[in-house]
Amino acid sequence: PVAGRRPFAGGPARSGTEGLVRPRRLRTTAAIRSMVAETTVQPRQLILPLFVAEGLAEPRPITSMPGVVQHTLDSLRRAGAAAAEAGLAGVMLFGIPEEKDARGSGAVDPNGILTVAIEAVRDEVGDDCLVMSDVCLDEFTDHGHCGVLTDSGVVDNDATVEIYAEMASLHAAAGAHLVAPSGMMDGQVAAIRATLDADGYADVAIMAYAAKYASAFYGPFREAVSSSLQGDRKTYQQDPANIREALREVALDVAEGADLVMVKPALGYLDVLAAVRHAVDLPVAAYNVSGEYAMVEAAAAQGWIERERAIDETLLSIRRAGADAVLTYWALEYARRSGVAR
Ligand code: PBG
Repeated sequence: PVAGRRPFAGGPARSGTEGLVRPRRLRTTAAIRSMVAETTVQPRQLILPLFVAEGLAEPRPITSMPGVVQHTLDSLRRAGAAAAEAGLAGVMLFGIPEEKDARGSGAVDPNGILTVAIEAVRDEVGDDCLVMSDVCLDEFTDHGHCGVLTDSGVVDNDATVEIYAEMASLHAAAGAHLVAPSGMMDGQVAAIRATLDADGYADVAIMAYAAKYASAFYGPFREAVSSSLQGDRKTYQQDPANIREALREVALDVAEGADLVMVKPALGYLDVLAAVRHAVDLPVAAYNVSGEYAMVEAAAAQGWIERERAIDETLLSIRRAGADAVLTYWALEYARRSGVAR
């Protein structure tokens, strides 16, 4: 070696190994690893779910989701501004009414909490960041189901879809850029599209929770929206055993006019996400759900896993499997930490 020069070498190859293919060369430094990285996670690809509760004086922590709160209207506005500032794609709003009833009346009250929240956040962020809303009844019903019930206690598909369409129109009137029907009722996308178009909101997009599974990983979300579910959602959400059924649901939502389709949950369903990615040419989103968040937070709090690495790896895995956009409770933290602006 010439003095003063810094050759880049991992040591001599053993004799007899000349020409050995060494994939490790592309992993030798952070610079080369970064150059060949196939997937990135950028703030513009992340959506922050936010909860807002009616009549709250102070933000209320959600015990099973450390770091996540039910917002007041004021703190929600600030969270929306922070999301825009950090270059996030958008925020997904969930409203928690003071009074819940069997029909979920709060959902179609023009002065209901979610409608008022959409207006407040849109007023705050303008078009700098997308204001998205959950179109579903489970936050509003006292029985916790995603729809209204028939006399025999099953979820009434068609009556529920009519309410979703009314909700979506209210959200659009309040300034939502995008509505996200998450109730898994048949025909919900078509009904919402028709109502939005008829009511003058042709540009409001629909992100369909197309392949949504009946999952245990929504557990902490129940606390987040102060909901206690009677029974389960197996008659409308999908069986975790199925993937072809997911592709069928996605194809239906595309045909009904969805602008984006979503797979949910994310981590246990990366195969579904990859299959959906290949099956459609629409943008695909994935929801890194409350239970996935809680697992990482709980293990990290015990010192059992490295928190930030686990978060980064989680988001990267979801992107690698094919998600264009990821809904995640870590969106703001990740965006601030990654330092990548839009
Ligand atoms: C339905 C809805 C749920 C979630 C998002 N939208 C609950 C459910 O379907 O049971 C779950 C999100 C999460 O767990 O983070 N309004």
